[in-house]
Amino acid sequence: MQTIQLSNGVEMPLLGYGLFQVPPQEAERCVSDALEVGYRLIDTAQAYQNEEGAGVAIAKSGIPREEIFIVTKVWITNAGEERAAKSIEESLRKLQTDYVDLLLIHQAYGDVFGSWRAMEKVYHEKKVRAIGVSNFQACRFYDFARFVDIKPMVNQLQCCVLSQQNTIIPEMDVFDTKMMAWGPLGQGSDDLLKSPVLTVIGSQYGKSPAQVALRWLTQRGIVAIPKTMHKERMQANFDIFDFSLSEKDMQIIATLNQQDTGFRNFADPNYLRRILGMFNL
Ligand SMILES: NC(=O)c1ccc[n+]([C@@H]2O[C@H](COP(=O)([O-])OP(=O)(O)OC[C@H]3O[C@@H](n4cnc5c(N)ncnc54)[C@H](OP(=O)(O)O)[C@@H]3O)[C@@H](O)[C@H]2O)c1
Repeated sequence: MQTIQLSNGVEMPLLGYGLFQVPPQEAERCVSDALEVGYRLIDTAQAYQNEEGAGVAIAKSGIPREEIFIVTKVWITNAGEERAAKSIEESLRKLQTDYVDLLLIHQAYGDVFGSWRAMEKVYHEKKVRAIGVSNFQACRFYDFARFVDIKPMVNQLQCCVLSQQNTIIPEMDVFDTKMMAWGPLGQGSDDLLKSPVLTVIGSQYGKSPAQVALRWLTQRGIVAIPKTMHKERMQANFDIFDFSLSEKDMQIIATLNQQDTGFRNFADPNYLRRILGMFNL
């Protein structure tokens, strides 16, 4: 598996398996399938309620712990130094591990500086190998990164051929923060999976639009974490390292960008009110 190097020297796989919307009772089976296919990065979160299933699958796999890169995220209900610290211990317990490889603040709401202090502490204690953020759009990201001691090593954002996040990349480069793409298949949208442009490009290489979309990201050094509950799709999404897109095809795909900063606007107060309301915050 190809890797990218984070700012602290940690090597992170370029392709992983994502667990959003994988029901808790399916998580063990899905992660076991993904590990069998060859995935070595597993992306879960406190909010997905499937850390436990992932932990069981990893423990049962027999794969040495250091060969698997585990990512989890602190949810907004656990924002703040004390709550985040407690929730991190809970995540470690559920994942049956004494360290995670990457820990992220899931969304940029609540006492994120408090959460970060808790994360810096566990980083120094070696309970996490790298720390970062998620869904921090450009201004929020710059403001946060500018004022914290340890700079975020990763920002996980919605990023795919249809929403390429070109605006934030230079802001992240300032802090050597790597891009991790959630929704790399456009969350299963036909616009991406049935894109005529990706279909024509893929036919030259014997690849599907989904494979071209994942290849396009990873070829740019962006970590992609597609989710699927079907083992054959896990395999297909994994088979992207036996070809390279030509420079011309990379440029054609760059023209598919529709909504650079992602399809969900995290700076929209209505979204914020809705999400806080859902959790009685
Ligand atoms: N940080 C955040 O706020 C955040 C938000 C969302 C997601 N994420 C992370 O990013 C991961 C991926 O994002 P996502 O799950 O939202 O979207 P995604 O990976 O872009 O798309 C997943 C959808 O595509 C379908 N699919 C997957 N592979 C396919 C293939 N080869 N052919 C046809 N359909 C395929 C899946 O259906 P089936 O399952 O039926 O195959 C599912 O409906 C998540 O699982 C999670 O780990 C993070």
